[in-house]
Amino acid sequence: MALDLHFRSSSVEIKSTREIDAMREVGRLAGDSLMKVAELIRPGVTTNELNQFVHEDTLKKGARPAPLNYRNGDSPPFPKSICTSLNEVVCHGIPSQRVLREGDIVNVDITHIYRGFHGDTSATFYVGKPSEEAKLVTEVARRSLELGIAEVRPGARLGDIGAAIQEFAEARGCSVVEDFVGHGIGRKFHDEPKVAHYGERGKGMRLKAGMTFTIEPMINLGTHEVEILDDEWTAVTADGRLSAQFEHTVLVTATGVEVLTARAGRLANSEIFPDYFG
Ligand code: MF3
Ligand code: CO
Ligand code: CO
Repeated sequence: MALDLHFRSSSVEIKSTREIDAMREVGRLAGDSLMKVAELIRPGVTTNELNQFVHEDTLKKGARPAPLNYRNGDSPPFPKSICTSLNEVVCHGIPSQRVLREGDIVNVDITHIYRGFHGDTSATFYVGKPSEEAKLVTEVARRSLELGIAEVRPGARLGDIGAAIQEFAEARGCSVVEDFVGHGIGRKFHDEPKVAHYGERGKGMRLKAGMTFTIEPMINLGTHEVEILDDEWTAVTADGRLSAQFEHTVLVTATGVEVLTARAGRLANSEIFPDYFG
């Protein structure tokens, strides 16, 4: 898939103070749902049960789940309220009767709409005790997102984000998915700019205070190539090896970055190896 990554800063929305307040609110709500669903993850639970929980939790807050019936180009409407992407699934996995099993990794991706604005966040979770491979790909993905976020400030370029992620992931023997990227976000779910998780420092659009976008690196153990299943949504690694992903919605502030989907506490079944990289 060819992605046009050339955007002019002027074509990217700068949010007003009021809009930023709304983005903060929806971001916090989405992060809160992710923290709560984390507690349910264990062997024996189905991905439909995770979907049902988040669906109800979203409505309880007066928010709506953005994925439900979402259309992207020619694809059929997405049938569920969250994405659940297991093991070799890179992204856009559809919740089903599939039971979580000991040793699986599963990404849960939540997007709320509240007061007209979107908040988009995801994490990869361990089901029971992970294999060394599962740990590696998951912890590399987690750190990749942190390193990408650390590049965000006014005047930095999109390529700085991509390069930081790509350099780290490849140094750890993993690969970076290119066919799916982060995105501008606000009243629209997927807006400009496209935020590639690979690239060159000093290249790409310059960031300006008031921009809001996601960073959501998908990191594979083997090839970066992906394939789409017949359901027209589920993206899997071409070699069937593991893939992991983490996502935050961020705001470029006057001095740096604010993570709009930051959470109030630790993520159960995910943030359990704080010393992985020493
Ligand atoms: N939340 C995904 C993202 O990070 C998009 C999911 S679209 C859906 O951009 F329709 F698959 F839900
Ligand atoms: Co996103
Ligand atoms: Co998402």
